[in-house]
This record gives sequence, C-alpha cells and structure tokens, in this order.
Amino acid sequence: MKKIEFFHHNIDREDRARVSEVLQSIFLTTGSYVQEFEAKFSEYLRLNNTIGVTSCTAGLHLSLIALGIGPGDEVITTPMSFCATANAILHIGAKPIFIDVEEETGNLNAELIESALSKRTRAIIPVHLYGQMCDMKTLRLLANRYKLKIVEDAAHAIEATRNGIPVGHLADTACFSFYATKNITSGEGGAVSTNSSRTAALLRMLRLHGIDRSAADRYTKRYKHWDMPVLGWKYNMDNIQGALLLGQLKRIESLWKKRDTLWRFYEEELRSVSGVRVLKTLPELRHARHLFTVLVPPAKRDALLRTLQNKGVGVAVNYRPIHLLRFYRKTFGHKSGDYPVAEDIGRRTISLPLYPSLRITEAKYVIRVFKESIAA
Ligand SMILES: Cc1ncc(COP(=O)(O)O)c(C=O)c1O
Repeated sequence: MKKIEFFHHNIDREDRARVSEVLQSIFLTTGSYVQEFEAKFSEYLRLNNTIGVTSCTAGLHLSLIALGIGPGDEVITTPMSFCATANAILHIGAKPIFIDVEEETGNLNAELIESALSKRTRAIIPVHLYGQMCDMKTLRLLANRYKLKIVEDAAHAIEATRNGIPVGHLADTACFSFYATKNITSGEGGAVSTNSSRTAALLRMLRLHGIDRSAADRYTKRYKHWDMPVLGWKYNMDNIQGALLLGQLKRIESLWKKRDTLWRFYEEELRSVSGVRVLKTLPELRHARHLFTVLVPPAKRDALLRTLQNKGVGVAVNYRPIHLLRFYRKTFGHKSGDYPVAEDIGRRTISLPLYPSLRITEAKYVIRVFKESIAA
C-alpha cells in the first residue's frame, strides 16, 4: 500500500550544514543566526522589525502585552482557528469575543465586528485561514474608528498579500509560526514583525524576561550590569532555530510555487465531484497555499477521514471551531449554533497532503482515493 504523509518538511543538506555550523560553535542561544534571520524575514515582508520567538503562540501573547492589552479587556477573534489564537488572549487575562466567519473563505467576517464591540474591546486578532489574507483594509478602518489594536495571526500566511499589501503592514504586529508542519519550519519557533520600532524594542525585552541586554550582547561585548525594567517571558528564538530557517527562507518562493501547482491540480480535480466544495481564493490576493481543505457532506466526513487513512493518505481536520472545545464551552457557556458558519466548516472540512516534495503521482493517488471513497 502507498503511504502518503500528511506533511513532509523541506530541510535540505545546506540547512543541515548550517545547523552543524552552529553546533560546532560556542554560541547556541539567541545570536548572529537569529539576527540574520530576523533581518532577512523583515526584508521579505518589507517591514522594519522582526523578533524571533519560540512559537507563534508566544508571539501572540507578547504582542498583546506589548500593545497594552490586559486583564478585563476583550479581544475580537475568529472561532475558525487553532486554539492557540484564543488561548493567547486568555493568557493575558483578557476575554476572546468570537465572531462568525465568511462562508466563501472561512475568514473572520469583518461585517460582524461592530456587533461584537463593547466598552472593553481593545483589539482584533484576524487569522489568515489556510494562507488567505483577511480583509485587512476594512479591519484597519474599523480599528482606527474604534481605537483598537490589530495583531495578525499570520501562522499560515508568510507569503500572502492582498491588493499587493503583505501581512503586517496594516496591523500593529503580525505573528508567524515555524511549527513542524508550517511552510518554513524549525520544529518549534515563531516570529513577530512590526513597523513600530517602539513595539519592537519592547518585544525584544519581553521575549527575554524583560532584561535590557541579551546574552549575545553580554558575550560579544564586555560585561556590563544589566537590569530588568519590565516583567517578561522566556520566549527567545535560538541560533539552531535561526540556522534552520535561513535557508528555507531563501527558497520560500520556489517552495510556494510547488504548493501552488499542487493546489491548482487538487482544485481542478475536485471541481467535478458532486457534494464537495473548496473554499474560494479571492482574485485580489495571493494565497500562501498553506493548507488545502475540502468540504464534504457532514454525515460522510469522519468515515472519509478513516478510509483515506486506511488507504495510506495522511489527513487532518483544520479546524473544529474553538468555541466548541470543552474548555471554552465550560468556561464561557458556548454551545452549538453560536457561530453557525464556522461550525458548518468544522463539520465538513478535511485537509489533504500539501507540501513541495509531494509528487504529482502522489497527488493523483490522493485524488483517486478521495473520489472512490466519497462515491462508496
Ligand atoms: C492559525 C494558527 N495560529 C497559531 C498557531 C500556533 O503556532 P505555534 O505552534 O507556533 O505556537 C498555529 C499553529 O498551528 C496556527 O495554525
């Protein structure tokens, strides 16, 4: 039987050599490799600053703190995401206020923002679902009107643009994930990018306990006493992660192109299958092509997941909506019916394998098995 992994990373010989270089050096923690990665990542996004952290969750958490959001505040977000998005809001003692998503794209529906505002609303966290950017222009206008901060959850969307504008440009910060299955990966890892030098300086301190000198400063320069002006966390990216990411960032466009070709193949093949739907890619944007999902009849979804796996095809569900996870139901009293569009996607969605080394013959096998299984 064929075995088609759900995901395979793209770490190559050059990446391994760079990591080996770090391991043979004396300096393993946050240093020159992280700095180089941060500079190149900022350049790619056309933003002024990037701060390497240990995860996107850490980036979201620190962004909210750096922007002055805290206990008792409310942050508007989407239920159609990984739980990390809403958990970061809880980590600072604020409350996630969910709004429903657009049927066409699965992204947070900007038209519903005003109905969710209260005196306590302080920020919005849009998630660029599967790599398709939310309507950032409208969100920016609303944020300006109601004096809200915007933290983009761009875990899926490094390569995305909308009307030619990349992520991070219409927000206060944008947060990225380099988790094991992301478009570029260091196993675990993340980054925050921002055009604000003030926010960046604060984030740099917050990722390392709130200390005003990094270990690299202490190592490369003469010892000077350091201070801790604010309370921070231990979220700094290390040189091993930086080294792993540098080469992948150089290849990011060619990796995107391969996923885009596979995406178009899947889309074309699934067009004629009755009873299934693929979310729309809007014409005004460049989709980062992170996760390819197909919506199937709810009554068939779980059986299809089993059959595909039995036939060697790796699959995932991105996502069952956050508000229906046990903790969120229990803590906030959420129930089925609260956000019907997100729930409908959550009941129908299946993610298929999508990564640059997936061969077209393998993608054809995935489609054949999918078509046979749904017709059975
Ligand atoms: C949309 C979204 N947000 C946040 C995260 C959290 O990323 P990390 O694992 O780097 O904390 C993920 C990770 O899967 C994600 O998919």
